[in-house]
Amino acid sequence: MTRRDFHRLGSLALGGLIKLAVAVPAVAFLLSPLRKRGGGGSEGAGTEADSLANIASLSQLKVGEPRSFPIVRDQVDAWVRYPREPVGSVWLVRQPDGVEPPVIAYSAECPHLGCAINLAPGGAGFHCPCHNSSFDREGKPLNKIPPRPMDTLDVELTKDDDPRVLVRFERFQALAEEKIPLA
Ligand code: FES
Repeated sequence: MTRRDFHRLGSLALGGLIKLAVAVPAVAFLLSPLRKRGGGGSEGAGTEADSLANIASLSQLKVGEPRSFPIVRDQVDAWVRYPREPVGSVWLVRQPDGVEPPVIAYSAECPHLGCAINLAPGGAGFHCPCHNSSFDREGKPLNKIPPRPMDTLDVELTKDDDPRVLVRFERFQALAEEKIPLA
């Protein structure tokens, strides 16, 4: 091998290494959101139903009095993480001592077309102002507008002296007669 061949080979090898050093992190960066989307667990990385939202302490709730709380979490689209944005809200209703479950959580998203459900005037039940869906205190429809009762959400309580109320927040298909989770 001549000296010139040796230099040419060295230049080629060095060029290849530089290209590799640039290409590997670039490909990893491009693929990372896709990997994150497929995984579950941490907030914002998997589906909404993967994570429990820490909503309130039990002592903040009065028995039989519905109280609304926002769901705030990180949002991730294909490439960008948007920290701590409101993504919805829930109604929590504490049950009398000894009743299971101790807290019922209702999604505040109307099963008709997704508007926000409020308390009915006078607090007798719930009401959606968009097309006048009405629900009683147990979330059952009081007229024919909503296709199903208000959507209940899974609730867990921590073992603290004043337990935290954790809610598995998820969305369901509008207009369906059954609760069908959105992917
Ligand atoms: S979206 Fe609630 S009544 Fe239509």
